[in-house]
Amino acid sequence: MLKRVLVSRLSAPTKLKMRRLANRVLIVPNYVYDARRFMSSSSAARSADDRERLAAHITMDYHRIEKGMALPAPRAGFGQDVIERLLVHIPQYEAAYGADATTEVARNALTEYQAFNRANGVVNTKLDAFLSGRPATNGEGGTVELTREQLFPFSDDQALSFVRSRRSVRQFTGETIPNEVIEEAVRLAQRAPSVCNRQAARVYVANQRDRMDQALKFQNGNRGFGDRLGAVFVITADMRAFTTLGERNQAWVDGGIFAMSLAMSLHSLKLGACMLNWSVPARHDKRARAALGIDDNQAIITMLGAGYPVEDVRIAESPRRQLDSVLHWL
Ligand SMILES: Cc1cc2nc3c(=O)[nH]c(=O)nc-3n(C[C@H](O)[C@H](O)[C@H](O)COP(=O)(O)O)c2cc1C
Repeated sequence: MLKRVLVSRLSAPTKLKMRRLANRVLIVPNYVYDARRFMSSSSAARSADDRERLAAHITMDYHRIEKGMALPAPRAGFGQDVIERLLVHIPQYEAAYGADATTEVARNALTEYQAFNRANGVVNTKLDAFLSGRPATNGEGGTVELTREQLFPFSDDQALSFVRSRRSVRQFTGETIPNEVIEEAVRLAQRAPSVCNRQAARVYVANQRDRMDQALKFQNGNRGFGDRLGAVFVITADMRAFTTLGERNQAWVDGGIFAMSLAMSLHSLKLGACMLNWSVPARHDKRARAALGIDDNQAIITMLGAGYPVEDVRIAESPRRQLDSVLHWL
């Protein structure tokens, strides 16, 4: 209390100076908070001993097979180490958790790989024995061929105006976004690329007023419009998807890409959206995580508010930098 009174008497520049001094001390414990959680969640420094961690290893490896076969001239018999690991991890996973979408997709990718190798005179008897145990389902996994037409199935005008017209919206009607629309937006957002297709991003969402308020009270950038939102999203990344020290910041890369994909998906459904920053110190992150029931394996990346825009929306112009200060030729 006394501290608050004293601080309130200081001038704004003095307060800023004091905050900077405090941050010099606080930076290390804040990094330690992130590092600890990365080390206990990812399999960078511990074994892949649960479903999510093992699924990450299987996904990473079957995707190496898929993308190898998507190269212009794949080498017959490529990826022997990857195959060896998959032949250990898939049975281990299926024994512990049963066959599911992860192992089905992996088996389908391996089946295409086997056919490709056979056609090129390479036989892998261990792989043959493994695949004969359970036939592939012909579902997803492996490669598909698309014409250029199928790759870009839109007119130039539509695509350009779609990308150019996304803006942060802060004026909403207050109408709730129905569950099925939220599901559609998240399904679309799942087209976001992710490291080795490991899809670490997760979405926690609220569209009931009390639940939205509970999330929004931990975020300071929604003042003046949070109460008119139709849904509040918390985008996280599951750090169990990451496997190496080099991936210590991957949660923010993959989570950020997913968040942008969600913003574009909402735009495609003619919903307004505004990212809501999660630039918070460790103690705030901890408090919010406990209140919202978001477990320790999740890194909170950002919040995002969405809703139905009012008829005539005033938006911040947010002018962009000159291209030559952004684009540097190597
Ligand atoms: C990670 C991130 C966090 C943001 N947080 C907030 C926020 O808390 N409140 C807000 O009103 N806008 C927020 N914004 C929106 C930015 O102000 C906005 O994207 C920027 O000015 C560009 O404008 P535009 O989105 O309309 O193109 C955030 C944007 C990003 C990418």
